[in-house]
Amino acid sequence: MIKKFLKFPDNFFWGTATSAHQIEGDCGVNDWSPNFFIKYKNQLPWCQDALAKIPAVGLACDHYNRYEEDFALLQKINNNTYRLSLEWARIEPVKGVWDKDALEHYRQMLISLKNKNIKIFLTLHHFTNPAWLAAEGGWLNPKAVKYFCRYAKFIAEEFGNLVDFWLTVNEPGSYVFCGYLQGFWVPLQKSWWQGLRVFCHLARAHRRAYRLIHQTVKNKFGKEPLVGFANDVQAYANYVKHRFLDQLHVYLVYKISNHGFYILSGKKSHDFLALNYYFPVRLERRGLLFGQLGNIDEDRRTTETNWLIHPHGIYEVLMDLSVYKKPIYITENGIATNDEDLRERFIHEHLEETYYAIKAGADVRGYFYWSLLDNYEWAEGYRPKFGLIAVDPKTQERQLKKSAFYYTQIIKENGLWLDY
Ligand code: BGC
Repeated sequence: MIKKFLKFPDNFFWGTATSAHQIEGDCGVNDWSPNFFIKYKNQLPWCQDALAKIPAVGLACDHYNRYEEDFALLQKINNNTYRLSLEWARIEPVKGVWDKDALEHYRQMLISLKNKNIKIFLTLHHFTNPAWLAAEGGWLNPKAVKYFCRYAKFIAEEFGNLVDFWLTVNEPGSYVFCGYLQGFWVPLQKSWWQGLRVFCHLARAHRRAYRLIHQTVKNKFGKEPLVGFANDVQAYANYVKHRFLDQLHVYLVYKISNHGFYILSGKKSHDFLALNYYFPVRLERRGLLFGQLGNIDEDRRTTETNWLIHPHGIYEVLMDLSVYKKPIYITENGIATNDEDLRERFIHEHLEETYYAIKAGADVRGYFYWSLLDNYEWAEGYRPKFGLIAVDPKTQERQLKKSAFYYTQIIKENGLWLDY
């Protein structure tokens, strides 16, 4: 047997990622909160549906009160970087009014990370909106762009000296796909037209926020911030390789899905690329161009969320995005499973493919496992377990899983061993 060490670049960022709503506990004032559904069920008909379909977030991991404990665990598993998001609704619970306590709370969180020498990737929008914005139509309303930019500027003024990397929005593609096309996430809509509108508004918001964050941080703190967004990317492929139309089909889907937001928001509005990769999609062409988005059931390995496990896909998307010649960060990659051997294998295989992409020229500078803690998985509630750390919902006790120790070892060695 051959044993080989795959060494990652020096100063590689090793981290984990989370989002506020999924771990903090119900803030009561965003558009995923049961309070909101109850309050607006007459005004917004989808809220009635949401009461039945969207699981209540409840206390989640009570991270709002336990962040110090969780940051200590971050250190324990050797993370040198961490991706978190702010809950906009806590900071601006009433339109135009900033909540000083929430702001101070987040400031203390960021300072705590800084003191621990952990680099900070801060997401400004990770799917949830303040209730007042949702009541005004959310991202369908063009004014959302203005509101978001005002918030982004405010945060840049307040936290510009603490944040290392800014992510304006998380996964505009899946936000639109799940919330506006498939309708299983808030606001439970199924309309291509609405989806397109929201996508365009998010792209406009990114472009403007990019400029504002740059101006603000430069003026106030004299430094150039690094700003991007977290892109959900899939590795698209087809079954038939030798037909032009099948190839064209993949090309178009790749372009729209993985590159659409970059193009729409302006390629100059990105200091780095951040991608979230989970699964591949094989396309089956039906008719002239349009085909099936999805995989024929070939009885392959899947996760608890029924996603195909395809590590080579991360190599493909990394190579595809490296054409922009910008630093790349994998801001999410993870698996929902109760099988710790499988989680380790998932991490190992995805990192192995990442290593090959780096060797092939992709400028990958960081990897964030999703997620630090078992948490609230949107419409699926608490069933899928993505965490490196288990959380007992009754006692809130945290317990490091086997895979957490495995990931720690990789971080310590700055690479992984391959046997073949
Ligand atoms: C999202 C996370 C989510 C994860 C797993 C990503 O699409 O950014 O919020 O929990 O995937 O589904």
